[in-house]
Amino acid sequence: MSFAPAAREVDEGATPAGFARVQLTVNGRAVERQVDSRTLLVDFLRKDLGLTGTHVGCDTTQCGACTVNLDGVAVKSCTVLAVQANGGAVTTIEGLAPAGGLHALQQAFNRCHALQCGFCTPGMIMAADGLLRSGCTVDDASIERALEGNLCRCTGYVHIVEAVKEAARALCVPTHRETTP
Ligand code: FES
Ligand code: FES
Repeated sequence: MSFAPAAREVDEGATPAGFARVQLTVNGRAVERQVDSRTLLVDFLRKDLGLTGTHVGCDTTQCGACTVNLDGVAVKSCTVLAVQANGGAVTTIEGLAPAGGLHALQQAFNRCHALQCGFCTPGMIMAADGLLRSGCTVDDASIERALEGNLCRCTGYVHIVEAVKEAARALCVPTHRETTP
């Protein structure tokens, strides 16, 4: 667990030693806070912005539950300081889908029974989203590479891989089947 102090609302005074101002776009919304320089991005998202869909499973870069999209790339937010993300654009699981709807990955995880307890699911989906955005062909090998840093204690991975392939087809992302002569 991380115990960095909570962010303060930005004031007009000087930034105290050990603190820094961060400006981010999070799920399309501009945010600015003064944070302890040691604050992890995952803690900033969860504790200061209330975006608790991003989970903390290990805090040591092993489980992938904290995966978010930072400037178009899937990253483990327990491995990034909030100040390192300054000026960037973050998408969390809360911002993945259009308002009131579900993203194709969320629909596919539901249809393919790709979750049980759901603890790993936000990170799995954000890592899979990184693959679908990458321009890579989506097949078993590329999915396994994209998700190799994400652990699931419940489902095994077969249905998760199926869900990512189904979402790729729904989003017209090239899949192995379509690119094989
Ligand atoms: S909480 Fe970040 S990888 Fe486990
Ligand atoms: S669904 Fe429970 S950890 Fe993955």
